[in-house]
Amino acid sequence: MSGLKIAPVTFGREGRIGLILIDNPPVNAISGAVIAGLTEALNRFEAADDLDVLVLYCAGRTFVAGADIAIFEDPGFSAQPFNTLLARIESQSRPVVAALHGTVLGGGLELAMACHHRVARPGTRLGLPEVKIGLIPGSLGTQRLPRLVGADLALEMITNGRMIDAAKALQSGLIDVITDGEPRAIGLEALTALLALGASPRRTSQLGVRPASPEVLDKAEAAASKKPGWPQLAAAVRCVRAAQTLPYAEGEVMEAAEFERLLSSPSSKALRHLFFAEREASKIPGLARETTLRPIRKVGIVGAGTMGGGIAMNFANAGIPTVLVEVNAEALQRGLDLVRKNYEASAAKGWLTAGQVSQRMGLLQGALDYAALADCDLVIEAVFENLALKQEVCAKLGAVARPGAIIATNTSTLDVDVLARATGRPADVVGMHFFSPANVMRLLEVVRGAKTEPDVLATVMKLAAAIGKVAVVSGVCYGFIGNRMAEVYMREADFMIMEGAEPAQVDAAVESLGFAMGPCRMLDMAGVDVGAKAVIEHGKVGGLPDDPSYRALVQQLFKLGRHGQKTAKGYYRYEGRTPASDPEVMTMARELADQYGMVRQQGPGADEIVERLLYPLINEGLKILEEGIAYRPEDIDVVWVAGYGFPDFRGGPMWMADSIGLDVIAKRLAHYAARRGDAHGYWKPAKLLLELIASNRPLAKWGR
Ligand code: COA
Repeated sequence: MSGLKIAPVTFGREGRIGLILIDNPPVNAISGAVIAGLTEALNRFEAADDLDVLVLYCAGRTFVAGADIAIFEDPGFSAQPFNTLLARIESQSRPVVAALHGTVLGGGLELAMACHHRVARPGTRLGLPEVKIGLIPGSLGTQRLPRLVGADLALEMITNGRMIDAAKALQSGLIDVITDGEPRAIGLEALTALLALGASPRRTSQLGVRPASPEVLDKAEAAASKKPGWPQLAAAVRCVRAAQTLPYAEGEVMEAAEFERLLSSPSSKALRHLFFAEREASKIPGLARETTLRPIRKVGIVGAGTMGGGIAMNFANAGIPTVLVEVNAEALQRGLDLVRKNYEASAAKGWLTAGQVSQRMGLLQGALDYAALADCDLVIEAVFENLALKQEVCAKLGAVARPGAIIATNTSTLDVDVLARATGRPADVVGMHFFSPANVMRLLEVVRGAKTEPDVLATVMKLAAAIGKVAVVSGVCYGFIGNRMAEVYMREADFMIMEGAEPAQVDAAVESLGFAMGPCRMLDMAGVDVGAKAVIEHGKVGGLPDDPSYRALVQQLFKLGRHGQKTAKGYYRYEGRTPASDPEVMTMARELADQYGMVRQQGPGADEIVERLLYPLINEGLKILEEGIAYRPEDIDVVWVAGYGFPDFRGGPMWMADSIGLDVIAKRLAHYAARRGDAHGYWKPAKLLLELIASNRPLAKWGR
């Protein structure tokens, strides 16, 4: 468009139509420069008497996808300049149309709602996702959305942060028309229609609100009170309530106050940190963005158990044909049946149509022979966690996979380099550590071996995004990032129970911080047998400390057949899925403590439990950084939040470490070392911890 370029905004005209184009890649986020550009563009429009209407649209992949989240960290940030601009757009005496495409989110939707009419391309999605970063919409989203779609839907959209599609937006009144074409063209087309109708400005703030019932609001309030770590939910309900009970101007004041308060809250800062951490994690240092990727058109998986089947679902969901290989027909059928059952359960909940279920099942093929893997571009072994077995499978995969195919292992603890050697082509090998249930859990640890080719790594990272995973790269070590850190966490859980704490106390201490599940409930759910066998296998390769009491409790529970939920007994007794304390476990713990000469206490208090679970874990994270296993502290945070139920509003263990204070952590490690003795180096501080304290630097700045 020819016109006045006010980077990153351009003002132009076509006949009697004014045109404002925002071009601020990658997602046209609202920044100071965009606000300045829009302000200047509005000046031009207001000064041009010969223009009848205004169209606002965006270049690139999307309409404005929100405020630039990075500017929230500026100490002087205020939503006011943008809000004033929106009020000015709305008050125009000539109609203003927003032409929408892509993902119209946050400040982008608030901008669109300040315009008088909205036209969208099919496929456009709209939402107010601010709750996900610990905020509420701060540019009148909580006041304008209820006026357009009613308080019921507004409440739902603002509290769940999810997008709605163009059809729903049209039906609810959020947009006026859906038209296919380039944003500029659909804006012009909509305007022509409006002009023909003699349409005048329709100001959202002046509309009435179709109210939600008091029951709906009360229910939303009750739901919000169950998530105290997410204060943005209760704030959102208060604002929507205000929208339907108070004049617009008073609702505006209320939203501004709530937004300000949340903006500086630790929980929002933590969630904003995670937003960027997840995106940063996908970048591999030293790897050029333009690295040519290997094509992945077909995937093969060896092992159709719960894990293999769950992994296969990810690819089928993304439309990638997948073949599952098993050793015998019954096991294969069981695996495929389980996948179908999972899909049918989703269909019963209304998440999938019957057609989607059969389409996805149609992408899955079963086979009993490795030959079926010969034309796959990626083969993943998902057999039982046993080194000899995995080596054998890897050797077969190395022989059968076509040249250039990627060979991945789903091991959770074993040495990826050893497995890579077994294939005979280690450059093609990478670890893909999925978390159970693999079709649900978002985390994927991608393990780079010593010989893994960069394009293999890059391909898998890209593929991870395509199947909806958040991927983090880990180097090779026992347990990689997540399970290595979980090991010290579970070590202390066992020790504290042997010293006199009840499993329920251990769990409650971290659950009260917002953990999805404490270590004992987690082990009971994942399987005490799985946990104990990992310890035993680690012992066989000489990986355990010379300490017979090391994770003695989990091994004893395993020996006694207490495998957790599935045997109705583990750290707890179960009726259904409800855990109850079991005195037998405490007796067993006491006997083990006596056997190993451990000093029993009255029972560690909640503060001690939290410190002993989290500080060694954080310390292990620091060791992982100093050894180069993880690229960045943020990667570790992503692993723990996406894979281990660490509370997102605390930002992950490394983020939390800074807020606790690195010096505090070091002092408490020293305290426990002194009290309990440290013959096995359990409390030895990471070198990096001491270095950061000595140089008075936070972990967040590490590596920068
Ligand atoms: N502020 C700043 N940067 C943003 C951003 C925002 N609101 N939204 C996206 N980005 C950046 C990402 O950090 C990423 O940058 P990078 O390539 O340097 O890593 C880039 O835009 C692309 O985002 P990404 O999420 O990787 O792409 P996508 O196509 O998968 O998803 C969105 C695009 C817009 C759906 C997604 O980024 C998103 O949900 N953004 C947040 C929207 C939001 O919360 N808005 C309200 C803010 S108040």
